[in-house]
Amino acid sequence: MDLITQEKWDRAARSFDLMSANGPEKRWRPAKLSVFSRMRPDARILFLALGTGLDIETFPKGCNIAAIDISPKMIEAARERVAGYEGTLRAEVMDVHDMSFADNSFDQVFTSCTFCSVPRPVEGLKALYRVLKPGGELHMFEHTGSKIFPFNVMMTQMSRLASRFGPELDRDTVANVRAAGFEVTEVNHVFLDTVKTIHAVKPA
Ligand SMILES: C[S@@+](CC[C@H](N)C(=O)[O-])C[C@H]1O[C@@H](n2cnc3c(N)ncnc32)[C@H](O)[C@@H]1O
Repeated sequence: MDLITQEKWDRAARSFDLMSANGPEKRWRPAKLSVFSRMRPDARILFLALGTGLDIETFPKGCNIAAIDISPKMIEAARERVAGYEGTLRAEVMDVHDMSFADNSFDQVFTSCTFCSVPRPVEGLKALYRVLKPGGELHMFEHTGSKIFPFNVMMTQMSRLASRFGPELDRDTVANVRAAGFEVTEVNHVFLDTVKTIHAVKPA
């Protein structure tokens, strides 16, 4: 378990809803709804990372979801939202780098604002690759760096400060997904090229 990352996100848990629930969460809701609408009721689903559970209300009903997060404080804050989900949703404290799930055990993996936060993104994505079945799907809603000037420079500068308290803002997550072995099937830009949905498969 990466205790430095865990402590960082435990600290962020206290003010997370205040910072996210009414601004970013409302803004990104349509894109998140569109990504999570791909959850299938017949699939075994892994959701990374649960945070305080703000994403749960955009999950379709009746799915079978194992949700993980490195921060016990985040999982604790998510408890009521987890209990309110109309389907099967189990929440566990787990580091993506050190998951206890067997190889090839999930049909679908979903992530939400996660790979700006996971400290070793390519290794984290390789861990998701390991637990996905061949032919399994990876669906992501992610903040990334930009290739557009001056946003690329701004994101790198802002990242230096933001990463002390929360996410890194200049990651090339699409390249990281490919580097982990996935085949990227679709990328949709939600805001400029800095907020996007990424869809990929583990080759069968
Ligand atoms: C920006 S928050 C997003 C939370 C939620 N998906 C949302 O959009 O409201 C990032 C989350 O990633 C989690 N996280 C960071 N590194 C992790 C790791 N190595 N394994 C599992 N979760 C991790 C943090 O604890 C935090 O809850």
